[in-house]
Amino acid sequence: MKPRTICENVYLLGAVDWDRRLFDALIPLPHGTSYNCYFVAGSEKNVLIDTVDPAKSATLMRQLDQLPAPDYLVINHVEQDHSGCTPMLLERYPELTIVCNEKARAMLIDHLHVDDARFQVVADGDTLSLGDKTLTFLFTPWVHWPETMSTWLEEDKVLFSCDFFGSHYATNDVFADKHEVYDGAKRYYAEIMMPFGAQVLRNIDKVTKYPIKFIGPSHGPVYDDPGFIIEAYRDWAGGEPQNIVCLPFVSMHDSTLKMVDHLTAELTDRGVAVERFDLTTLDAGELASSLVHAGTIVLGTPTVLTGPHPLAMYAAVLANALRPRAKYATVIGSYGWAGKTVETLAGMMGKLKVEFLEPVLAKGMPREADYAALDALADAIAEKHAGLAPRNFADLTVCRTDD
Ligand code: FEO
Repeated sequence: MKPRTICENVYLLGAVDWDRRLFDALIPLPHGTSYNCYFVAGSEKNVLIDTVDPAKSATLMRQLDQLPAPDYLVINHVEQDHSGCTPMLLERYPELTIVCNEKARAMLIDHLHVDDARFQVVADGDTLSLGDKTLTFLFTPWVHWPETMSTWLEEDKVLFSCDFFGSHYATNDVFADKHEVYDGAKRYYAEIMMPFGAQVLRNIDKVTKYPIKFIGPSHGPVYDDPGFIIEAYRDWAGGEPQNIVCLPFVSMHDSTLKMVDHLTAELTDRGVAVERFDLTTLDAGELASSLVHAGTIVLGTPTVLTGPHPLAMYAAVLANALRPRAKYATVIGSYGWAGKTVETLAGMMGKLKVEFLEPVLAKGMPREADYAALDALADAIAEKHAGLAPRNFADLTVCRTDD
């Protein structure tokens, strides 16, 4: 694909990775992804902002064949899907200077063994003149790593945000269709940004002091309607939990499944939305996305030997790492003789600021008393959720903005 124009002398470069199905050996990519970088041609100097995953270096090099040599390489973020081609660019352009912050400089030396002599280190708010265009560097830590920054192009009002506002969504379109990209962007937020919700909100406040016309992320399409993704981020990072129970479960001989089915029906009858995830076929991105808005997490698991099923432990570890804003959590499931399933799972979710509701454990196949206990749990959840926002209210509002 040739360099594509965003506005005058500002080009989208990079590669669409249609077939990639796993990121960080962890995150499923049902819609592939892209690695975007940007070329800004000034009247005096040219700059390349970020690079691509090294697996797609040939694509970037072919695009650069069609452009003048860059004087600067801005590295907004050191994760290798954006910085990985830095060594080959330094070799290709002997005069190229890397522009980044101090943390990124140290990381580039650690991760890619970049020569210390090739850096121009910038501070938060520093500017770089390209002649008729001016870049300002805005430190936006923790979207995704501590060194992450965004680059603001003053004259054209473009924010190059790297992972911030990105989506794992492979498309040929330069600009985002908000209905098309919404789910992918939310899923990306959930997987990458959710643990840093407070920093996300601070960074939104910081970058929105600028009159943004375009947001150029490093994954997924460019936003020429930046208000849509900014408001979506405000909702995901700061909106109240909704009337949703996120219910990841695993069942070995259907006893836990019967309990999950019963609780699902009882919650539904009480007006509580349930988002269920069979952990044997889990797409971790879908579970993460559900956790963005869930008011309660219920883990369904049998007891295996003396503890939770390993797949339930995986779900607990994932939830603990992503730190969603759910207010309540509990465990349901079946056991054969004894164990410490509830204590083990609760211990694995120690970072969550949740109130633990009374768990429901059935010995063997659930009996009437166990179903009654599930009914009581459904009552408790419905009561707790009475003050929460309705499911998807905010999502739909965002999607319908200015339609
Ligand atoms: Fe797309 Fe944090 O790298």
